Amino acid sequence: MSNQTDAAKKETNRILTGIKPTGIPHLGNYVGAIRPAIESIQNSDDEAFFFLADYHGIIGCYDPAIIHESTKIIAATWIACGLDPERVTFYRQSDVPEIPELAWILNCSCAKGLMNRAHAYKAAVDINTEKTDVDADQGVTMGLFGYPVLMAADILMFNATHVPVGRDQVQHIEMARDIAGTFNHRYKTLFTLPTAVVDDDIPLLTGLDGRKMSKSYGNTIPLFGEPNPQVSPEKQMHKAIMKIVTNSQLPEEAKDPDDSAIFEIYKAFATPEEIADMRAQYAAGIGWGDAKKALFAKINDEIAPFRARYQELMANPKELEEILQMGAAKARRHSRKQLDKSRRAIGIRPLAKLK
Ligand code: TRP
Repeated sequence: MSNQTDAAKKETNRILTGIKPTGIPHLGNYVGAIRPAIESIQNSDDEAFFFLADYHGIIGCYDPAIIHESTKIIAATWIACGLDPERVTFYRQSDVPEIPELAWILNCSCAKGLMNRAHAYKAAVDINTEKTDVDADQGVTMGLFGYPVLMAADILMFNATHVPVGRDQVQHIEMARDIAGTFNHRYKTLFTLPTAVVDDDIPLLTGLDGRKMSKSYGNTIPLFGEPNPQVSPEKQMHKAIMKIVTNSQLPEEAKDPDDSAIFEIYKAFATPEEIADMRAQYAAGIGWGDAKKALFAKINDEIAPFRARYQELMANPKELEEILQMGAAKARRHSRKQLDKSRRAIGIRPLAKLK
């Protein structure tokens, strides 16, 4: 009997991912993170926790206006692109005070040596070591150094089973497993060991200048344009696409689609038939201007329906704040319990019950 019940109880996956609110979302973020995350949730029964990692955002960004504005822009972007806050627990990390509390507890189960091996920290030290007369840790805050512990708290707080991330974040998930393992072994088995999910099929987009599309290169195509635009978001997108660098081949010359950023971005938005057709047009010598026009039309077809909702949310932060507070309330139903269990496990609990 009990066996049967156990077998019938299908384990549900709990997906969790954090989004650092720094900067304006661009097409690379949309294709690489936003669209796949929203689609994967729509097509499954998995439980999902998505959050704005603002306490991670303040590591290395000391501009309060950017932190504040990015939080708004990124929340509006995810909702406008179809994230359903009823279906997904969508919250702001800083609205869940149990997370930094758990981070402290986990700090005490995390070897310093483990953090010494974190790629982001090591990269900062390497840059300093190349210079003369500079301390190896110059410019490294405790926030940067302990970044993976806060991330472990984000994940372990909700006993997430699967964490979709970019390749650069896989090491952090392994560290979260390591920290969870130490705690579970030392005190009691409380934390689920999470698995990183990296999707190799997700395209990495090339930016306007031919390098990887990235905020740090300043070569992006913003998803909804710059805030407070003089020109419409649609015109801004058109203008950005017209700026994509191409080689100097003339119209009518046959072109290699696999050597073109325009084609690569087109592939991320088109159906297999449309892609095959565009390949043929490259072979037949489509001009770069026309290739860009086709690219703009394709992207615009997909993004245009989201623009009105985006503008509405940006103009009405109260609605966004309500959505985030609803998410925080849902998240805290879990986090209060999990923090309480964690504290009890380490010996922090009331001395006696008061009436
Ligand atoms: N560090 C992640 C990034 O830079 C963001 C993040 C914070 C995160 N906490 C997380 C991702 C927890 C997954 C799970 O992209």
